[in-house]
Amino acid sequence: MSLTLPAPGTVLKALDAIPDPGGAPADYDAVPILIVRSGDLVRAWINVCPHQGRPLCLPSGRTLVSEGRFIVCPFPGASFDLEPGACAGGPAGKSALKPAPIRIENGQVIAA
Ligand code: FES
Repeated sequence: MSLTLPAPGTVLKALDAIPDPGGAPADYDAVPILIVRSGDLVRAWINVCPHQGRPLCLPSGRTLVSEGRFIVCPFPGASFDLEPGACAGGPAGKSALKPAPIRIENGQVIAA
């Protein structure tokens, strides 16, 4: 899979379209990106679990955030710390998510 990230300035999602806590896929097709939010903390990751390469959200886009800080993979449950993206438990070992740099501007999540 190509990991060419969106060009800086690309609008990825309206912030208020992302459940809090929760996540939603970016409105960007070239690379699967999941934007995850918990309060003021908003991060974006390549939407591929390092365990078996499956998405970190359900097909509906629903994303489980546990305890306000752990993204939980639905296939079947590795957890990743929302701040550094490192695996915090489950079958993904010492792996980590691949970040997609973002910034928030005027209520939009924008590639940085
Ligand atoms: S694919 Fe995510 S825990 Fe298996």
